[in-house]
Amino acid sequence: MRVPLYSIHVEEEGRRLVQEAIASGALRQGKTTETFEKEFCAVFGAPHSIAVSSGTAALHLACLALFEPGDEVLVPTFSFFATASAVALAGCVPVFCDIEPDHLGIDLSDAEKRVTPKTKGMIPVHLFGVPLDCDALHAFAAGHGLRVVHDACQSHGAEWKGGNLAALGACTCYSFYPTKNLFTGEGGMITTTDAALAERLGRLRNHGMSAAYNHEELGLNYRMTDLEASIGLGQLHVFPRQLKRRRENYARIMEGVGTLPGVRWQKVPSGGTPGPSLLTGVLAPGIDRQAFQGKLSSAGVDSGVYYPRCLHQQPLFARTQPGVSCPRAESICPSVVSLPTHHALSPEQIAHLAATVREALA
Ligand SMILES: Cc1ncc(COP(=O)(O)O)c(C=O)c1O
Repeated sequence: MRVPLYSIHVEEEGRRLVQEAIASGALRQGKTTETFEKEFCAVFGAPHSIAVSSGTAALHLACLALFEPGDEVLVPTFSFFATASAVALAGCVPVFCDIEPDHLGIDLSDAEKRVTPKTKGMIPVHLFGVPLDCDALHAFAAGHGLRVVHDACQSHGAEWKGGNLAALGACTCYSFYPTKNLFTGEGGMITTTDAALAERLGRLRNHGMSAAYNHEELGLNYRMTDLEASIGLGQLHVFPRQLKRRRENYARIMEGVGTLPGVRWQKVPSGGTPGPSLLTGVLAPGIDRQAFQGKLSSAGVDSGVYYPRCLHQQPLFARTQPGVSCPRAESICPSVVSLPTHHALSPEQIAHLAATVREALA
């Protein structure tokens, strides 16, 4: 039996809307993108949503809007490259922080030691659908006068104390890459409660234009097109149902493997509700990851490694910021492994997945 890591299925409604957009020539950012933004606001509980061309574009625009060149921005060293590259592309300095071994997010006690008078922001990353303790994050940020950009690129549907991450901090960024809980193909969204920031972000994504051919400031072409928005609308309409299934599947898989010795699963902080994208764990010392993945693979169970290397160890940052040390993240990268937990898993696939993991760790 095959258990794939992701389920990428474009809903019938999205296919129809794409066909209509092609037939009418609506190939740029237009009415469907506006509708997608409005409906995203309703589903995610945020007053303003700005659709963009990728999660990276969302993070980059957020940094351009909130920080000045030369500002330092705290980021976890255990994330996808874009969390840090967006900061650097905005002319700011990503300051790499170690992670907490339970939830695998930024460790605030380590971050505290890296704050300087130049530190102006923080990008906490909610990895694999698991929300971080947002009270702690915001208290830390308030204590240091930092603006918070939530990187929820992997965590559509994750909640903190019953509220979606979309309405927290200065803004929240999402990716709609095909492997995400909600996808458009390539695409992204920035949500915010701040109307003035929303307006500025809308300008920045379109060459800094405030009215036709009136350019207020430097911006980029980070627009979403109605083709992606069409796919996104179809996916958005099934998202609540899929999220419920993801949570149920995650809970069922954890019932089967949650207490196994040999692996420490990522924990959901108390007060958080996950929007699960992957079930991620850290293998105990002595368990060979490649051999573990090999056993899963021969039973048809897909797995992945996110991330094999810390950001401060990437060639670019090792060169530009030598000497950074984040020992906990460094020790986790060689033994981290992710398993499927998506909405399309059947009870049979879940049982097979759990039995295979149990056997592989026995
Ligand atoms: C944590 C995180 N941040 C940012 C991004 C960037 O999103 P995109 O690939 O849509 O540019 C991703 C995508 O994988 C991600 O996982």
